[in-house]
Amino acid sequence: MNNIWQKLKKENEPFFVLAPMEDVTDTVFRQMVIKLSPPDLMVTEFVNADGYCSPGREAVGRRLRYTKKEQPLIAQIWGLNPVNYRQMAKDLVGMGFAGIDINMGCPVKDVVKKGACSAMILNHELAALVISETRAGILDAGGDIPLSVKTRIGYNEPDVTSWIGFLLKQNLDAITVHGRTRKQMSKVPADWQEIARAVKLRDKLSPQTVIVGNGDVMSRAQGESLAKMSGVDGVMVGRGIFHDPFIFSKTAKKADLKLMLKYLKQHIELHQKTWGGEKFEPLKKFIKMYISGFAGSSEIRAKLFAAKSHVDLIKMIDNIV
Ligand SMILES: Cc1cc2nc3c(=O)[nH]c(=O)nc-3n(C[C@H](O)[C@H](O)[C@H](O)COP(=O)(O)O)c2cc1C
Repeated sequence: MNNIWQKLKKENEPFFVLAPMEDVTDTVFRQMVIKLSPPDLMVTEFVNADGYCSPGREAVGRRLRYTKKEQPLIAQIWGLNPVNYRQMAKDLVGMGFAGIDINMGCPVKDVVKKGACSAMILNHELAALVISETRAGILDAGGDIPLSVKTRIGYNEPDVTSWIGFLLKQNLDAITVHGRTRKQMSKVPADWQEIARAVKLRDKLSPQTVIVGNGDVMSRAQGESLAKMSGVDGVMVGRGIFHDPFIFSKTAKKADLKLMLKYLKQHIELHQKTWGGEKFEPLKKFIKMYISGFAGSSEIRAKLFAAKSHVDLIKMIDNIV
């Protein structure tokens, strides 16, 4: 099998993955992360399989847009209907993704109410069906890409033995464990002791399954030390990239304001080229990632925030440099 998870596994150090983040990790953001400090692996935003298998396919499918340089790239999917998982998995193989990941961790009320994502922690029957149908879809397409799940340590309470134990019996290639329960949302620190328990269970039940730990990693060094403590094979970083855009780099990096403005400009230009004039306002949330920690940062950000379009923002940046 063409198993990217096994390829990334290293003896003495963890591999690093950029976390899937809705409205953040689109093709533009991923291309910028590669420029700044490339991780070993990236994942798309979650893409709804039921929406993909409906007349709304075109809009939903935009989240699957990628360029070759973003590889290895995993497509993350979620939804309710196992038949749609199968259909979508078949297409994803054809699109060239390095693997498929199923979201069983999103805690958002509307999603959970439907029975999707983290609700599957309480519905093992549906979880098993979704996994087997997705696998069937990969096989339908004649594909040999790996299948993984991203989830949490439990629903109301940590429940690694039963929930992660169940997942470890599903013959998955990898499991990403976010060290919080569904109930905890993002309100308490991630519990890496529970992640370490998941690793011990893996060693007993399914040694070939790769375990990735996730939650609150704000630097590469911290990720490495948490990996050492917990025994995970890989570390997934989400919000930490906003704290330090060079987080995946092995050598400490700190660029000057001029260079960060140049990167910001490249981000805006690439965004405009990729999405046209759309999605401009949400783009502003990335400004802080580039313009932070310099004298006068907050004044510069306030100025840039007033921009009304891509062109406007690019002009403003040019005037600062
Ligand atoms: C804005 C945002 C969007 C997210 N979207 C997704 C998603 O689409 N799929 C997913 O599995 N997790 C999603 N997450 C959860 C992250 O992947 C990650 O599990 C969580 O942020 C904890 O990791 P961190 O502390 O490194 O950020 C999202 C998180 C954030 C902050």
